[in-house]
Amino acid sequence: MNGVLSKDIQTVLLSREQIEKRVEEIAEAITRDYRGESVLMVGILRGAVVFFSELVKRVDLDVRFDFMVVSSYGSGTESGGEIRIVKDLSQPIEGMNVVIVEDIIDTGYTLKNLLRLLGTRNPKSLKIAALLDKPSRRKVPLEGDYVGFKVPNEFVVGYGLDYNEKYRNLPDICVLKPEVYS
Ligand code: IMP
Ligand code: MG
Repeated sequence: MNGVLSKDIQTVLLSREQIEKRVEEIAEAITRDYRGESVLMVGILRGAVVFFSELVKRVDLDVRFDFMVVSSYGSGTESGGEIRIVKDLSQPIEGMNVVIVEDIIDTGYTLKNLLRLLGTRNPKSLKIAALLDKPSRRKVPLEGDYVGFKVPNEFVVGYGLDYNEKYRNLPDICVLKPEVYS
């Protein structure tokens, strides 16, 4: 455990060993599903960075990288669920197999909007790989094609996920002590 940040951690929900094993399984599934094809893996910054880099190393295919930055519109995102593209892809995706790599599916708004947007660009295929899924929070129907773990309705940090930009570098997925939020 990261010594500096460990004082804020209530529990480790998923250990680095559990995560590594699951990331390996997801990479094997992707390798199997796209055999003989090339794949563009699109990491959603910044939360997916750790998952993305651990995943791509294990995918035994002709893989290209790209990245997007998206942000939710203002604070009233729960109502409309619109997103803003802060950084778009750096290349066209027409005819390509695209796998969006995201940290967590929560309300589903981010990925629903991304699927709609990227879908208009005529990729050959478009799938979602998400490390975590919080189905109890869903506002729009959406399922990941590759999901690491279903998690309860608790705010989690680590392995790329943040609270106010902090805790992304924790190697495990953790629940913070309640006093951290107050
Ligand atoms: P969605 O559009 O509501 O599905 O939101 C997805 C985004 O919300 C993720 O990419 C995360 O940045 C953030 N998020 C949702 N739940 C958590 C959490 O438990 N911890 C940290 N970030 C979260
Ligand atoms: Mg975040």
